[in-house]
Amino acid sequence: MAENLVLSKELEESLVSYAKKAMEKSYSPYSKFQVGAALLTADGNIYMGANIENSSYGATNCAERTAVFKAVSEGHRNFYAIAIVGGLNGNITGICTPCGICRQVLKEFADENMIVLLGNQQGYKKFTLGELLPMSFTL
Ligand code: THU
Repeated sequence: MAENLVLSKELEESLVSYAKKAMEKSYSPYSKFQVGAALLTADGNIYMGANIENSSYGATNCAERTAVFKAVSEGHRNFYAIAIVGGLNGNITGICTPCGICRQVLKEFADENMIVLLGNQQGYKKFTLGELLPMSFTL
């Protein structure tokens, strides 16, 4: 899996900029909170995702899960890293942390070493999935 994974600074920065690009596709007329994600698969592909809201609010899909479901449905089941950005009306004012459901969904296809880059105005903060989801449940 992502054991001892080190990404180059260039790749990290480009994942964050892909996430910002993905955020432009956010469909969020209800919350106005736009989120974008860029997911790096173990075989080197990048999948982008945006949050997609619904007038039946519970049917909303987060940006991270959009990216994950795109990747998995194309045959990629092992993830190395994800970058996430978000903000009201697309204005990034701080980091946007992934919700609990998205953390669990990421864990299905990654180990605790998966890199999670949370973009902000200046750049990004770096975490591992294990830090964000300790003692996670797996069967
Ligand atoms: N959202 C995401 O896309 N990812 C997260 O991890 C947190 C929340 C979206 C869902 C909804 O469209 C909006 O942000 C406000 O909750």
